[in-house]
Parts: sequence; C-alpha cells; structure tokens
Amino acid sequence: MATAQAPETHPGELNDVPGWFWPLDQLLFTWFLERQTARGLRGDLLELGAYLGKSAILLGHHRRPGERFTVCDLFGSEAPDQANRAESEQSYASLTRQAFERNYLSFHDTLPEIVHAPTSVITEKVEPGTCRFVHVDASHLYEHVRGDIAAARELLLPEGIVVLDDFRSEHTPGVSVAAWEAVLNHGLRPVCLSSQKLYGTWGDPGPVQEELLAALRRRGDCSVSVQEAARHRLVRARAKGMQPPPFPRSRHYAAPAPAPRPVPPARPAGTARARRLAVDLLPPLVTRAVRRHRAGRVHRTPGARTAS
Ligand SMILES: C[S@@+](CC[C@H](N)C(=O)[O-])C[C@H]1O[C@@H](n2cnc3c(N)ncnc32)[C@H](O)[C@@H]1O
Repeated sequence: MATAQAPETHPGELNDVPGWFWPLDQLLFTWFLERQTARGLRGDLLELGAYLGKSAILLGHHRRPGERFTVCDLFGSEAPDQANRAESEQSYASLTRQAFERNYLSFHDTLPEIVHAPTSVITEKVEPGTCRFVHVDASHLYEHVRGDIAAARELLLPEGIVVLDDFRSEHTPGVSVAAWEAVLNHGLRPVCLSSQKLYGTWGDPGPVQEELLAALRRRGDCSVSVQEAARHRLVRARAKGMQPPPFPRSRHYAAPAPAPRPVPPARPAGTARARRLAVDLLPPLVTRAVRRHRAGRVHRTPGARTAS
C-alpha cells in the first residue's frame, strides 16, 4: 500500500511521496533511462497515471534539454465509465492535481506537460513515434490498459521501452490479460519482469536484455532468473533487501535534528564527598601507611613471623 501524505506537506525525499514505486523499479527505470541517454537515444517521456508523482518525479529527472515529458491523469475528475469511476473512488479518492503539482515542484523547477483527462485522449496530445519511454500505470481495467498499450505502441520510437504496471498482481487480472495479449498477439517483446512491472519493447529486446542481465548479476541485492515461454525469453528480477537508488533531495529537505546527547546519569548523593575523599584525603593516608609499613620492616627482627 502507498504510504499516506499529510495534506499540505512538502516531501523532502522521493520516499516521502506516496505511491507504488518500489526500489527495484526505481533502479530499473534509472537503468533504462540512463542507458538510453548514454547511447544518445533522444525522445520524449510519457506517463499514463501519475497519482501523487512518485514515478513522475523520477522520470522528470531524466528529461534532457529539448525533450518533452507528458503526464496524463484524471486527478480526481470524472472517469469515463462506471467501472473506472468505482476504481478511482476506491483507490485514489483524495487525489488532487494540486497535490501532484506540489510534490513535483518540490523536486523540479517546472511542471511536466499535464494532460488532465482520461488516457483515451493521449494519442491526440502526443505525436506518434516520439517517445523513448512510456509508463502505463493509469486504470488497471482490461479495456483501458489494452487501449493504453496500443497508444504506447503508436507513440514509442522503435527502440523505445514501455513499462506495464501491476501486470501480475492478484487484484489486477485485467492488466495481466492485456499485457500477455500484447505479448502473444501484438508483437510486444518482454525485456524484463520485476515483481510489479513488465518492461518491454516493440524493437529488438536482445542487446538491452543482455546488458541488463550482466548489470543485475553484478549486484548482491537482486536475484535474476531466465525462462523461455512461447518463444519469448523472460528475465525475472527480484529484489533482495534492496535500497532505492540515490536520488536528489527536494528543495524542502530538512536534515533531521541531531539526536540529543545522552544525559549522564545523576550522581547519587554523597558522590562528591566520596570523590574528595579519594582525591584529597586518601593519598596522604596511603603515603603515611606505606611509610609506617616500611619503618616496621626496617625494625623487624630477622626470622620473626607476623601474626596472621
Ligand atoms: C496506480 S496510480 C499511479 C501511480 C504512480 N504512477 C506512482 O507510481 O506513484 C493510477 C493513477 O491513474 C489515474 N487514472 C485512473 N484511471 C484513469 C484514466 N482512465 N485516465 C487517466 N488516468 C487515470 C488515477 O487517477 C491514478 O492517479
């Protein structure tokens, strides 16, 4: 479950933003986006379903000059059908666009382009073949996800990456059906599966899959396995006590106050007197006793025994 955010609070770190964006997926987003940049692939970024901005804030961090980043969400407005309305009321009842913007602007100077509408309009707002990365995470109902995957296919560059959220969660069978339908019937090639998300491409998955496998196998906080299914190579990654990758803090970050220094336990009454006795009075007493003892040894008759 997403953590709750108190109203009107500004996040200090990405982790303070409520959402369903776990460390392994943060790592995978970062890896795919940095790989694209390193290889000189330019293109726009798109998120369908932004909620309070957790994944959008990370995506926005990877937007390069000249690239567009678009997010599309209902932000609490009327959903296009009854099932979608019920889903939104149940899961995102308190969502507002204002809260999304407040969170986003805590980390970035400018907002992304916001399409405040159902995702069914997205192909009218974004040019075909312009995106290098699309995150599909809006409605989790089959008809909607199916349309969102079709839109992603139209909007992506040939080697672009699409990410399908909740493709195998118990409560979202419609996403599973739409995701595997896209794989089996509509040319989507899986690159990697995390516990929550399917990463795929309509391009050639081979080279990116090889590089990803090598990168994940070098890590101690991730287990990886490979299986074949219906002539698809499925790379599964699972986090093992993984921490989120480093991410810049927000402008509102306040370092936690230093922990108070431990207060020494109160001295029991009489301690001061005991100290004075030890420091001031004992040494002369000891010196006198030593002197007496030495004097005694000097005058002792050889062979005499001390009484015990
Ligand atoms: C699971 S949340 C997104 C989580 C977000 N990507 C994150 O990682 O924090 C789903 C979002 O999709 C939005 N949504 C649901 N149905 C939609 C639709 N038909 N069109 C646009 N947005 C929709 C909801 O308002 C909600 O904000």
